[in-house]
Amino acid sequence: MADDVIVDVGNPDDIVAARQAGHQLARKLGFSLTDVTMIATAISEVARNITSYAGYGSIRVGVQDREGKQALVVRAEDDGPGIANVERAMEDGFSTGRGLGLGLPGARRLMDRLTIESAPGQGTVIEMWKWIPHNG
Ligand SMILES: Nc1ncnc2c1ncn2[C@@H]1O[C@H](COP(=O)(O)OP(=O)(O)OP(=O)(O)O)[C@@H](O)[C@H]1O
Ligand SMILES: [Mg+2]
Repeated sequence: MADDVIVDVGNPDDIVAARQAGHQLARKLGFSLTDVTMIATAISEVARNITSYAGYGSIRVGVQDREGKQALVVRAEDDGPGIANVERAMEDGFSTGRGLGLGLPGARRLMDRLTIESAPGQGTVIEMWKWIPHNG
């Protein structure tokens, strides 16, 4: 789609770039500054997980129809090791690394929806979105 931006994510600078791409699109779509910050923060978390656990992947941000409404959609994708137990990964405090285990559950709370498709050896696809506000 016209507004879609794809950021390759492989190092910490790319996390900033992905965050900025989401920030810019969210502002353009009329989200409040609070929402813009929440979207950018959620993007940072999934991007940081890519660099921490998969090494390399991509983040795509754009506008799509979801459940009959327009949403800002973030798709984070990698071909890394995958997540063995998606349900546990969504729990507060679960980490296989040295993290606090708050990235994914935090991102879910910051967005309107968050879905994970992942299995060991099959990489990870995380989609999360927020409904675009009606203005005027
Ligand atoms: N892209 C990914 N590929 C493989 N495993 C992942 C990926 N993203 C998350 N995980 C797994 O899910 C767990 C939970 O992720 P989450 O972001 O919630 O916490 P964390 O990264 O461990 O800590 P924090 O984000 O608080 O610093 C991770 O510890 C890791 O095992
Ligand atoms: Mg994390």
